[in-house]
Amino acid sequence: MTTAAVLTAAGSGTRLGHRLPKGLVELAGVPLVVRAARGLERAGCLSAVVVTVPPHEVAGFRALFVGGRVPGTRLPAVVVPGGATRQASVAAGVAALDDDVDVVLVHDAARCLTPSELVRRVEAAVREGHRAVVPALPVSDTVKQVGAPDASGAEPVRATLDRAVLRAVQTPQGFDRELLEAAHAAGASRAGDETLAATDDAGLVEALGETVWVVPGHERAMKITTPRDLALARLLLDEPA
Ligand code: CTP
Ligand code: MG
Repeated sequence: MTTAAVLTAAGSGTRLGHRLPKGLVELAGVPLVVRAARGLERAGCLSAVVVTVPPHEVAGFRALFVGGRVPGTRLPAVVVPGGATRQASVAAGVAALDDDVDVVLVHDAARCLTPSELVRRVEAAVREGHRAVVPALPVSDTVKQVGAPDASGAEPVRATLDRAVLRAVQTPQGFDRELLEAAHAAGASRAGDETLAATDDAGLVEALGETVWVVPGHERAMKITTPRDLALARLLLDEPA
C-alpha cells in the first residue's frame, strides 16, 4: 500500500489578483504548483500526486507536468479538472487515486514553501494509526467571536476565545483513505456551494464524529492568498529553510 497526495490548484486566486490562476503564478520563476509538487516529492514518502486544476486550464497545467511527472523528478503526476469549491476539487482528486493508495495527503498548492519534514511528520502520524492528521500553529492574535453587524457595519463581540486552545491549521492534512472518502461522501451535498463547502478536509472528518489529530505545523507552510503573502514568500526564499 502507498501514500499519494491530492494537490489542490483549482482555485482562481481572486485575492491574489493576478490574471493567471494562482497555481500558475511564479515565485522566482517557478509556478507555485510546481514548487508545491516538488516539495511533496522531496519528502520521499509519496507514490504519486494528483493535481486538481481549473477545468478550463487543464492543458496549461498538463504542459508543466511533462510526461506525467513532477518536473525534475520521477514522481508520477496526474492533472485532473477540479470543481467549483475546494471541497469539490479534493473529491475529484481523490476519485483519481490509484487502488493501491491507502493514505492520502491533501495539500494546497498555495502552500508552496512547505518543508518536506512537515510532509513526513503528517504522513508518519497517519501511518502510526491517527486516521486524520492536521499540522497547525498556535494563534498569536486574540480571537473574538462576533455577532451580526449593526447599520454602520460595527459588529458586537459575543465572546473572547481562549487562545491557548486555538490552532491555525495548515496543509498537508493526512488521512486514512477510507475515512477521507467516507467524509467526502457524507458531506457531498455541501460541495457545490462556496458558502457551505468545507474549507478543509479535516472539517468533513469532524462532521462524521471522528477525532482529528494536530501535529506541529511550520511557518513556511503559510498559504499565499494575497499579494502581501507572495512578497513574504519571496523573502522566505532567501532565508535558510
Ligand atoms: N482550490 C481548489 N478548487 C477550488 C478552490 C480552491 O482546488 N474550487 C484550491 C486553491 O487552488 C488553493 C487551495 O484550494 O491551492 C486554497 O484555496 P485559496 O487559497 O482560497 O485559493 P483560491 O480559491 O485560488 O483563491 P481565492 O479564494 O482568493 O480566489
Ligand atoms: Mg478560495
